[in-house]
Amino acid sequence: MHSRETIWIIGASEGIGAALARAWAARGARLVLSARSEERLLVLAASLGSDHVVVPLDVSDRISLELAAETITLIGPLDRVIHLAALYDPGKIADLSPDTAAQIVSANLTGSFHIAQVAPPLLRDGGQLALCGSVAGYFGLPQGQIYSATKAGVINLTESLRAELAGRIDVRLISPGFVDTRLTRRNDFRMPALLTPDTAALAIIAGLMARRFEVHFPRRLTWPLKLLRALPYWAALPLTRRLTQ
Ligand SMILES: NC(=O)c1ccc[n+]([C@@H]2O[C@H](COP(=O)([O-])OP(=O)(O)OC[C@H]3O[C@@H](n4cnc5c(N)ncnc54)[C@H](OP(=O)(O)O)[C@@H]3O)[C@@H](O)[C@H]2O)c1
Repeated sequence: MHSRETIWIIGASEGIGAALARAWAARGARLVLSARSEERLLVLAASLGSDHVVVPLDVSDRISLELAAETITLIGPLDRVIHLAALYDPGKIADLSPDTAAQIVSANLTGSFHIAQVAPPLLRDGGQLALCGSVAGYFGLPQGQIYSATKAGVINLTESLRAELAGRIDVRLISPGFVDTRLTRRNDFRMPALLTPDTAALAIIAGLMARRFEVHFPRRLTWPLKLLRALPYWAALPLTRRLTQ
């Protein structure tokens, strides 16, 4: 890193976001840390050094995001915004409560839309905005429930944003495979190619420093799923149906 970067991480209190905060602080970045739980963010910020800023918010609440943006404007232009906040509730579509489903859509998809509107004016010209999809958004798999549908939406939104902001903001898509966090600890199936949050954080930093639009990892999981997505339905659907048996 040539000059000191200022990086806003949303979803920093836990899991991949907290690991990313530790990894970027170790590289000398100044961080703005956001999530709903202020206390956990304060403990994290204190463990990282003295000059990081905690801005609690709820991405599904537009007003809390606009208040956060007012605070962040005072900090100065940002070099990167990394939006990782999301909710997850595993199970079959038939078993998910409608209220939980609405909360997941609101946090994951509408939340990403809010960030897509609120973040660009806070970035310097040429700054980077990364939204987080998932390999779960590539193709509808059994147990994917509405979480995967929101991630398919985030992928689509990020593709549109990449085209719309080209030339001013470097828009990126992060597509993790399975990472061992509070989110996936609720899965009752064996997760192939499971990564630690620290390994995921290093893959994200390397990808965001490089030039490709999509930062996807680990490749041993993401490439087969990309292949599944590229197949015609007559070939792909019998394969995914077998996963329910
Ligand atoms: N873990 C995986 O295997 C995996 C795989 C593919 C994609 N991903 C994606 O990677 C990202 C990070 O996941 P993770 O596994 O690190 O999850 P996690 O451990 O559950 O962390 C999620 C973070 O988002 C914050 N958050 C949740 N709802 C929020 C809201 N409404 N407003 C603001 N912050 C909110 C949480 O903090 P508070 O609860 O304090 O708000 C927490 O800091 C997510 O986008 C997830 O979909 C994860």
